[in-house]
Amino acid sequence: MSQVNSTNKALVLEQEDKKTIAEVRQLAASDLPEGDVLVNIDYSSLNYKDALAVTGAGKIVHQFPMVPGIDLAGTVAESASPDYKVGDAVVLTGWSVGERFWGGYAQQMRVQSKWLVPLDKGLSSKQAMTIGTAGLTSMLCVMRLQESGLKPKQGPVLVTGATGGVGSLVVALLAKNGFEVVAVSGKADSVDYLKQLGASEVLPRSEFEEKVRPLDKSRWAGAVDTVGGDILAKVLSQMNYDGRVATVGLAASFSLNTTVMPFILRGVDLLGVDSVMIPYERRVQAWARLARELPQEIMDQVSEEVGLEALPAYAQNMVEGKIKGRVLVNPNI
Ligand SMILES: NC(=O)c1ccc[n+]([C@@H]2O[C@H](COP(=O)([O-])OP(=O)(O)OC[C@H]3O[C@@H](n4cnc5c(N)ncnc54)[C@H](OP(=O)(O)O)[C@@H]3O)[C@@H](O)[C@H]2O)c1
Repeated sequence: MSQVNSTNKALVLEQEDKKTIAEVRQLAASDLPEGDVLVNIDYSSLNYKDALAVTGAGKIVHQFPMVPGIDLAGTVAESASPDYKVGDAVVLTGWSVGERFWGGYAQQMRVQSKWLVPLDKGLSSKQAMTIGTAGLTSMLCVMRLQESGLKPKQGPVLVTGATGGVGSLVVALLAKNGFEVVAVSGKADSVDYLKQLGASEVLPRSEFEEKVRPLDKSRWAGAVDTVGGDILAKVLSQMNYDGRVATVGLAASFSLNTTVMPFILRGVDLLGVDSVMIPYERRVQAWARLARELPQEIMDQVSEEVGLEALPAYAQNMVEGKIKGRVLVNPNI
């Protein structure tokens, strides 16, 4: 017997006159895409990429209609895969879901089993989506820095876009791993929030928007940059000898105008971080570390829960850089 619900509420994007229209609709079973696992979705989340998709501010969606939502967590309702059975708790991030394939802003979705990972036993589906793609990516940044040899005793680590979904959790995870964290934020009222997450100091974004010189005074042993553009160029110019920078985002710009000086005179490493196509084993490893290392009070502190109807307004605020922390999406309210 099919486990497809008689009602399946979803946020659907259409394109009219090159504008993206977002509308909550009831989907029929026949509307769902092909896939070997049907998931009852407990939660999804709002990430920067989702905000670009829902508002149409960025070319994220490859075809319309589209159910956005680049991540989801829930339980298996139907499975034709030997790897999953009905009732299994699962999580999905990446693989172009919410961009090329229908995603998590629905009560049920049919997906491919190869995109899923079993939910770590230490996490609920709510916690998994409080973490979401942004949190998984944060952990990948920390893993990349640590795998490159960065140790707390080498000096402070800078985090840009620090109040964002990725930035907030990078601050918390680095602090948890014993690093001295210096946060950079454009929000004047974010100092207490970032210090509670574990930052020892908070610097205004304006300090990083000044003219970039090929080499500046060296200040940082490591950095995680979520914004790109001239801010990343500035960060590179301030790295210590042998410093390491994880580049993960483009909230300010996808361009990077810099010189070779930090690389050839200070041996700086620029480390790329991708969360979309990473292999299964690395996902499982990152989720297990997140379950161990992110305290519940941090998850409570960084998250706000919204339903599908309220999502487009939150997406607009995110595009405008007004959101602090993580937005948890509950399709069942
Ligand atoms: N590589 C990957 O696999 C991957 C995965 C997830 C996300 N990302 C990328 O990582 C970035 C952050 O994602 P997110 O979900 O954390 O987004 P977010 O919640 O919107 O956070 C971005 C933060 O960047 C800062 N910011 C916004 N506009 C800015 C501007 N014009 N100039 C400088 N800073 C600005 C703001 O922080 P402050 O106000 O505190 O400065 C903002 O909160 C995005 O570009 C996203 O696409 C990449």
